[in-house]
Amino acid sequence: MTSTLLTGIGSLVTNDPAHGGPLGLIEDAALVVDGGRIAWTGPASAAPDADARQDVGGRAVVPGFVDSHAHLVFAGDRTREFNARMSGQPYKAGGIRTTVAATRAASDADLEANLVRHLAEGLRQGTTTQETKSGYGLTVDDEARALALAARHTDEVTYLGAHIVAPEYADDPAAYVALVTGPMLDACAPHARWVDVFCEKGAFDGDQARAILTAGAARGLTPRVHANQLTYGPGVQLAVELGAASADHCTHLTDEDVAALAASDTVATLLPGAEFSTRAEWPDARRLLDAGATVALSTDCNPGSSYTSSMPFCLALAVRDMGMTPDEALWSATAGGAKALRRTDVGALTAGARADLQILDAPSHVHFAYRPGVPLVEEVWRAGERVA
Ligand code: NIG
Ligand code: FE
Repeated sequence: MTSTLLTGIGSLVTNDPAHGGPLGLIEDAALVVDGGRIAWTGPASAAPDADARQDVGGRAVVPGFVDSHAHLVFAGDRTREFNARMSGQPYKAGGIRTTVAATRAASDADLEANLVRHLAEGLRQGTTTQETKSGYGLTVDDEARALALAARHTDEVTYLGAHIVAPEYADDPAAYVALVTGPMLDACAPHARWVDVFCEKGAFDGDQARAILTAGAARGLTPRVHANQLTYGPGVQLAVELGAASADHCTHLTDEDVAALAASDTVATLLPGAEFSTRAEWPDARRLLDAGATVALSTDCNPGSSYTSSMPFCLALAVRDMGMTPDEALWSATAGGAKALRRTDVGALTAGARADLQILDAPSHVHFAYRPGVPLVEEVWRAGERVA
């Protein structure tokens, strides 16, 4: 295994507070990658020797994005629904049924090809750790199939049998909850790390969500919750009470919700692609940050409410419309996502971390928000290998 010295780094975001500030920014920096891990970071003038050397010519280097919330196992698209929304129709969770029908009808090969296409899309835009969920199967076999496919491509796999009540159970939601917490969980738990529930009017109420998350936790899956997206509700409080890794969306929060998040280890994961694509009110990142909550940013990539795989796009929205500074947004899209996935090996360029990084065609990470929509990600490395 050869070591590589990256030098001529105009600005290096390490997310290592030892280098100062939350971003651990070093100007005129260098870093050494060895055995797929970061071996050293610091000023270029103090760089050690390495087997190979690459001068990045003053470009910025930042950690790979950690996209901790996406729904990439699906078939079909919902262009018509998006078009209707942009003509004034509201977003309704019921649209999920359209994707459920398409996903059930798809072959394994087609589903996997679609997943791989979206993973590659994210990778080209700097995402080196990608979570993904089930939730468009809603039968024992279709949910297990989705998770098994996802597990071939990522370690961050979430069981979301409780996305909506399956159409076959529309008249008997209690029976569906029994399926999700019984035979479906049995089939899905071996493939997943996390359990999630869409706790919202039109999906699952607080009691149902508690039953589902508790059953998942008893099988070794750590809870995370789709919470307070479309309206106020019990999701955030439930997430905190159950020690969930994250409460995701957090668009409609009471002062008590904000205080509960701030006093907990549950990360508030904000998903601005969803508000963009549903023309909804933005989540208030500033309010959460000022209260002391940990905030992550993710894409929520899915064909219904947020069909973007672009972390740079989400970061630009968060800066423009959610009160985040460019520094905060970069941290939330990298270290914040890692916290939401309870990972210590990604999201930061500290000695020992996996060498997941982006070389930007820009002198600073601020350009993600300053130059929105511009493809600034020039190279992506994962575990020390160039992958895009
Ligand atoms: O996170 N909110 C629930 N689930 C997805 C939307 C899924 C869909 O509309 O297909 C979300 O936004
Ligand atoms: Fe989601």
